[in-house]
Amino acid sequence: MKLSVSCFNSFKTPSLIELKKGAIPLHLAVIMDGNGRWASSRGLPRIVGHKKGADVLRETVITCKDLGIKYLTAYSFSNENWQRPRREVSELMELFVEVLGRELDGMIKNDVKLNLIGQREIIPPDVLSVFENAEKKTENNKTLFFNIAFSYGARQEITQAFKKIAQLYKEGEVELKSCNEKLIEKYLYTAGMPDPDLLIRTSGELRLSNFLLWQSAYSELYFTKTLWPDFNRKQFFLAVKDYQQRKRRFGRL
Ligand code: IPE
Ligand code: IPE
Ligand code: MG
Repeated sequence: MKLSVSCFNSFKTPSLIELKKGAIPLHLAVIMDGNGRWASSRGLPRIVGHKKGADVLRETVITCKDLGIKYLTAYSFSNENWQRPRREVSELMELFVEVLGRELDGMIKNDVKLNLIGQREIIPPDVLSVFENAEKKTENNKTLFFNIAFSYGARQEITQAFKKIAQLYKEGEVELKSCNEKLIEKYLYTAGMPDPDLLIRTSGELRLSNFLLWQSAYSELYFTKTLWPDFNRKQFFLAVKDYQQRKRRFGRL
């Protein structure tokens, strides 16, 4: 008797045309993890992995455009990442500044609208101003809404929404009976955006690490052992193909 086992690793890589016949996520969220391990396993400094990771993110943006994905949210630096060794944090800050400067023209040309989601108040002013300049220069773009989750933590995001609503309540602007999910969503960093349909985490870790905890309530989760710097177009297509096999129920039958 021949047994056939089906899992996503056995999929043949689909072509772009094939994929476009199926359901395409409107909003894709990615936890770009594994840069450090990618570099260390090659005897290289961790920052080399982060640099390669930035190149992969550029390719990911292009692939999103090709697939017709409208929203991309990429976890690039968490609130908790501020606690990493000073040297890694400062090298990462330099890299963000360099990459944003280098990629700005490409984002403008590709009609990508950049939006930082995260705790702006704790970002060093020179880094924040580079983000804000890129936001300003891309503010009217419409093809791809690209959120960079930077200095981001979902619990902090929910806490600041809670504080704003409490303040409005105190001022008599909001009544208890109108405090509902819609109101809370209005004060999240992702206000006005659809929830992620697909959430990908690379590097084999099976956790969310404080990423989009509210918004991912019904996201399809895809975990791969591939490290972020190796997450190429083929890997991306396999993830979307896997998503296309899912049956989303949202609690219904
Ligand atoms: C993800 O890669 C990027 C950031 C968190 C900034 P890591 O730096 O977490 O790489 P690993 O997980 O240690 O390999
Ligand atoms: C999550 O990765 C944050 C980013 C990818 C930016 P981490 O490497 O910080 O997460 P943990 O520490 O493994 O949970
Ligand atoms: Mg990591």
